[in-house]
Amino acid sequence: MSSNGNENIESVLKETRTFPPPATFSANAHISSEEQYEAMWNRAKDDPSGFWGEMADNLDWFRRWDTVLEGDMPDTKWFQGGKINASYNCIDRHLTSSRRNKAAIIWEGEPGDTRVLRYQDLHREVCKFANVLKNLGVQTGDRVTLYMPMIPELAIAMLACSRIGAVHSIIFGGFSADAVADRNNDARARVVVTADGGWRRGKEVPLKAAVDASLDKSPTVEKVVVVRRTGGNVDMVPDRDFWWHDLMEGVSTECDAVQLDSEHPLFVLYTSGSTGKPKGVMHTTAGYLLGTTMTSRWVFDLKEEDTYWCTADIGWITGHSYICYGPLSNGSTMVMYEGAPNWPDEGRFWEIIEKYRVSIFYTAPTAIRAFIKWGDQWPEKYDLSSLRLLGSVGEPINPEAWMWYHRVIGQERCPIVDTWWQTETGGIMISPLPGVTATKPGSCCRPLPGVVPDIVSPDGQSLGANTGGLLVMRQPWPSMLRTLWGDDERFRATYFSDIEGCYFAGDGARRDEDGYIWVMGRVDDVINVSGHRLSTMEVESCLVAHPGVAEAAVVGFPHEIKGEGICCFVTLKTGDGDDDLKKELVQHVRSSIGALATPDQVRFATALPKTRSGKIMRRLLRDIAAGRESTQDTTTLEDLSILAKLREDDE
Ligand code: WTA
Repeated sequence: MSSNGNENIESVLKETRTFPPPATFSANAHISSEEQYEAMWNRAKDDPSGFWGEMADNLDWFRRWDTVLEGDMPDTKWFQGGKINASYNCIDRHLTSSRRNKAAIIWEGEPGDTRVLRYQDLHREVCKFANVLKNLGVQTGDRVTLYMPMIPELAIAMLACSRIGAVHSIIFGGFSADAVADRNNDARARVVVTADGGWRRGKEVPLKAAVDASLDKSPTVEKVVVVRRTGGNVDMVPDRDFWWHDLMEGVSTECDAVQLDSEHPLFVLYTSGSTGKPKGVMHTTAGYLLGTTMTSRWVFDLKEEDTYWCTADIGWITGHSYICYGPLSNGSTMVMYEGAPNWPDEGRFWEIIEKYRVSIFYTAPTAIRAFIKWGDQWPEKYDLSSLRLLGSVGEPINPEAWMWYHRVIGQERCPIVDTWWQTETGGIMISPLPGVTATKPGSCCRPLPGVVPDIVSPDGQSLGANTGGLLVMRQPWPSMLRTLWGDDERFRATYFSDIEGCYFAGDGARRDEDGYIWVMGRVDDVINVSGHRLSTMEVESCLVAHPGVAEAAVVGFPHEIKGEGICCFVTLKTGDGDDDLKKELVQHVRSSIGALATPDQVRFATALPKTRSGKIMRRLLRDIAAGRESTQDTTTLEDLSILAKLREDDE
C-alpha cells in the first residue's frame, strides 16, 4: 500500500444522472425488488452460514457438507466435509434434461469458422481429454499449464482438469516464453497444453514456439499436448510433444468426475502485483463454484433462453469465472470468439451479436472506448435488438463511455451492470442488480449478497459519505482466494496486513450519500498534488468527456514544487492535436475539477501502451512522464511501436 500520510483520497467526480431498471426487466428478473435484495443482503451478513448453506443447494454434491463456514479471515474454510466436482456441475448435471441437446458453447474463430458444442458434446470431449491427461500420468493435485488461443479446446482442457482434480494454471496467450517459464516453475507444472498458434488480426500468434523456448527453463514439464489450430509449422519433440487429435483417438468417452473435497484447489491464476514476481492466486472448488454460479445468475440474470457473450479471454479471471464456470454451471448458452474486435473490420463484435442473437454482452471499458473512437457507424450497421443486458468489467468506466454504451449499444433499453471484482475475489463483488438497481454512470453501485465492504482510512476507521478511502471487505465470502501458490506469507502480507481484520483490495473508493460505491482505481494509481490526493481515473474521466478525446491515461511524475505533477497522455478521435488543443484540455480539466487538478503536461499519442488484456501500462507511462528509462517488463505490450512514439514526444 502506497499511502503516505493520513489524508484521505480526494474525490472530485460528480455524477448525478440515474437510470432505474425498465419495469419489464424487473418483473422477470431473478432478483426483482429492493426489498428482496435488502433481505438477502442482510441475511447473508447476519447469518452467512445459513444464507450460503441455502445457496449451496444450487450445486450438485456427492456428499453434503458438515459445516458451511469455519474460521476467520484469512483462514476460512467453506463447506468442510462436502464432496463435489466443478466439471460435474458444469456438464453432467445438465445431461438429465433437455439441456443435454442445448448449445453450451457457440464458438467463432477469427477467420470465420464456427463450431457448436451441445452439453452432451462437451461431456464427451471433456471425458476424453480427462482420460488423455490420466494416460499422460496426470494425477489429482498435479498442475497443468494451459497456454492456448480462445478455442473450444481451452474450455475442454479446463473442465478435464477439474474433472480429475488436476489444478489448471492458464497463462494468457499474449505472455512471452519467459513468463510461461516463470509460471511453470512456480506452479511446478507437469504438463503443458497448447496449440500450434492462434489467430489475432489475421496473423498467427505462435504459441508452440513460445512453449518450446519456455521449456528450456522449466524443467518440471514432462509432456506437451498441441492442438492443431492454424496449421503453422511446429517442431514436435519425440516422447515429449503430442498432437491433441492423436491422443484423443480411441480413448474412452466416459470418465467419472472425481469426488473432491470442497477445499480442493481448482486452479491457480497468476496476476501481477504492484511489485515483484507474479502472484499465483489460488482458488478452491466449492466456494469458487458457488460464488460464480450465484453471481452469474444474480448479475447477468441468466435465463434458459439467453445467449450470453463475455468478450474476455479465458486467460484472465473474467474468462475463468464468466465464460467457463459460472455460465456453464447455470446451463447457459455462451458465445466464444477467438480473435480481435477489429478484424476484418471494426464491426466484428456487432456482427457476432446480430448473427447469434446475443442477449447479454459483457465487455471492458477499454474496448468501449475503442468502439467510441471507431465511430457509431459500425454498430449502426447491425441489428442489436436481441440485447437485453450489458456488462462492464476491469476498470472504472468513465461516465461518458457509460453513456455511449447505454445509448448506442443498449439503445437506452438495456440495464448496464458495472461489475467490480478482482482475480482474488473469484467472482463479482459489487455490481448493480439489473432488475433492482437504479444505476449511476461510473458507479459499480452496491455490494452483492454476502459481500460486506467498507471504505476506511489508512488506520482502519470507517469513513463517511463522499470521503475517499481504501476499499476493504469485512467478512469472508465463498469465492475468495485461499492463498498465493507456494507463498502463504505474501498472501497474508498483501491482503490482510494493512487493515486489521479486513481483506484489503488495493483500490481506493468512496461511497456516496445513497450508499453507492465509486471505485477510483488502484491506490497505487493515486497521485498526490500539492497535498491533495487525486485519483488519476477521475482526471481521465474528465478528459474523455471532452468531445475531441478518445482515450486518456493520467499519471503522476515528480514535481519540484507540488510533490507530484499530473501528466496526461491523450489519444484523439481525429487529428494530431496542437498547442491550442493542449491549452484547451488543461482548461477543461481545470474548469471541470478545479485548479488542484490542472495538468502539468498533456501529450498526444496515437495509442496508449496496453497489455493484451487491455490494461494501460501505467508504470511505463510514469517512467515516460518522468523522463526515466523504463525498468518495466514490456513483454505483454500490445504494440511496441507505441513506446517509441510516446518517447519522441518528449520535450
Ligand atoms: C479494477 C478483473 C472499477 C480494480 C475482474 C481491481 C475495476 C482490478 C472494476 C482487478 C470496475 C475491475 N470498476 N475498477 N467495475 N473491475 N476493476 O484482477 O482496480 O484483472 O482491483 O480482475 O481491476 O483486476 P483483475
